[in-house]
Amino acid sequence: MSLTKTSSDFIAEIEALYSRWGSNKYDEQISQIEHAVQCAEFARHAEADDELIVATLLHDIGHLLELEQKDGNPNLNKNDEHESSGAAYLARHFSSAVTAPIALHVEAKRFLCTTEETYFAQLSPASVRSLELQGGKMSASEVERFAKHPASERAVALRRWDELGKSLEPSGLTFLDFRDYLRRCLTN
Ligand SMILES: [Fe+2]
Ligand SMILES: [Fe+2]
Repeated sequence: MSLTKTSSDFIAEIEALYSRWGSNKYDEQISQIEHAVQCAEFARHAEADDELIVATLLHDIGHLLELEQKDGNPNLNKNDEHESSGAAYLARHFSSAVTAPIALHVEAKRFLCTTEETYFAQLSPASVRSLELQGGKMSASEVERFAKHPASERAVALRRWDELGKSLEPSGLTFLDFRDYLRRCLTN
């Protein structure tokens, strides 16, 4: 993918990425685009700040980057580390208020599976499969380190919406419904 020069180009680049690969289901039953807008809508209903709404919308963009790089054929048996690739990509034009919860959303799943007895049962089959590749439950020291991270609460909030945004009923929302949020969160 080419490097962009301006922030408005960057939004166009993100929208193009979702229009090319957003119908892909990756390893879930729901398409990437529908998952993104459903999750973001939960964040909007909860009156999250703009940055957290954008983080929730784009939290799985690393999967789309992987699809782009692998021409639609990602290796699902390997951890694609999409939380890191997505956060690094977005850091070009978004602040850590957007990128940190994204970078931590997999750790937040491991944290919640470790600290809340009922959480594991909420995971989709694909999320259960990826949990093992992502390191499974946390050790006590990992739990402690995660809880101390300044963005851990935002990452946990994002993660709860991530689990909710997997309805097979179409939401009627589109990516463009969130363009103003994207614009407001650009840093340069
Ligand atoms: Fe994810
Ligand atoms: Fe997700």
